[in-house]
Amino acid sequence: MKTVEHLPVLFHESVEMMKPGPGKTIVDCTLGRGGHTKGFLDRGASVIALDQDLEAIKKVAENFNLHKVFDNPLVYKGDQLTVVHANFKQLSSVLYRLSVFEVDGVFWDLGVSSPQFDEPERGFSYRFDAKLDMRMDQSQSITAWDVVNTYDLDELTRIIREYGEERYAKRIADQIAIARPINTTFELVEVIKKAMPKRALSEQHPAKRTFQAIRIAVNDELGALTTSLEKGLEHLKLGGRLGVISFHSLEDRIVKDFFKEKEDPCTCPKRLPVCVCGKKPIVKVITKKPVVPDALEVEENRRAHSAKLRVAEKIYSDKEVGK
Ligand SMILES: C[S@@+](CC[C@H](N)C(=O)[O-])C[C@H]1O[C@@H](n2cnc3c(N)ncnc32)[C@H](O)[C@@H]1O
Repeated sequence: MKTVEHLPVLFHESVEMMKPGPGKTIVDCTLGRGGHTKGFLDRGASVIALDQDLEAIKKVAENFNLHKVFDNPLVYKGDQLTVVHANFKQLSSVLYRLSVFEVDGVFWDLGVSSPQFDEPERGFSYRFDAKLDMRMDQSQSITAWDVVNTYDLDELTRIIREYGEERYAKRIADQIAIARPINTTFELVEVIKKAMPKRALSEQHPAKRTFQAIRIAVNDELGALTTSLEKGLEHLKLGGRLGVISFHSLEDRIVKDFFKEKEDPCTCPKRLPVCVCGKKPIVKVITKKPVVPDALEVEENRRAHSAKLRVAEKIYSDKEVGK
């Protein structure tokens, strides 16, 4: 097999904590170049892996010698590996299509892969000049160009403020509105630089937060994550695990709050001595604090620096008690 072009983050920790093994099925919602998938396979598990990026699917199909079994959605299969071109928010329909109803683990390594970032024409990076694109799924119609050039000022300000946690969101959105149409990444970088106060230009790359915000909006990253966490839990066997690697606080908060709510769903007023709402904990959170990479990993792979892994195990299911 050829080497993967993306260094999997928190690899050993993720593989260990997802407890893959013979007879188990793990869903890898974010195949990328197959780094984590390979770790699960090497431990003897079967893997169903999804990616919305057609290029990722095709590269892995080639590298892992898989054969095509369906066209819509595009599915490739090998001995223990099935890869599907799909958004992970469609997790349920993908599993039904494969006649799989329960799995032993569902895993997400969120965000953009190195090949996506490093291919200038994908338009994800402020380091290369390219058309404004940023679509992970290139068959999707909405691109970064649409967000930048057609969204109204209030919506654009909200996106940059909320998804980029950018303190100069309003100034940046105002400058974008004045400069429209903006066609390329470098044009956008110049507009952002013009909008920011001089003192802010040296802190980090001035376009970092705005680019992150636009990317999240283009790919509906937070919406897809929220939907697929619910679906993942639904399809998990008792004792099965959900594992998520996130790369910024917005994603991490969604995961943390989801796990917390499923671990302690009781809605009874605190003053009641006993629970009367009947809502039982569905998961046990395994990582009370998120697992983060050590200094060596961050030195070897800059992408890892903000990674956080959270894992929860399913401990209760309505189905089991026949409700
Ligand atoms: C960080 S990379 C995963 C890398 C992978 N773990 C590896 O070791 O090679 C994230 C991948 O998830 C995919 N992705 C992101 N959001 C997705 C979504 N909503 N549905 C399906 N795939 C998604 C991206 O296209 C990208 O290939």
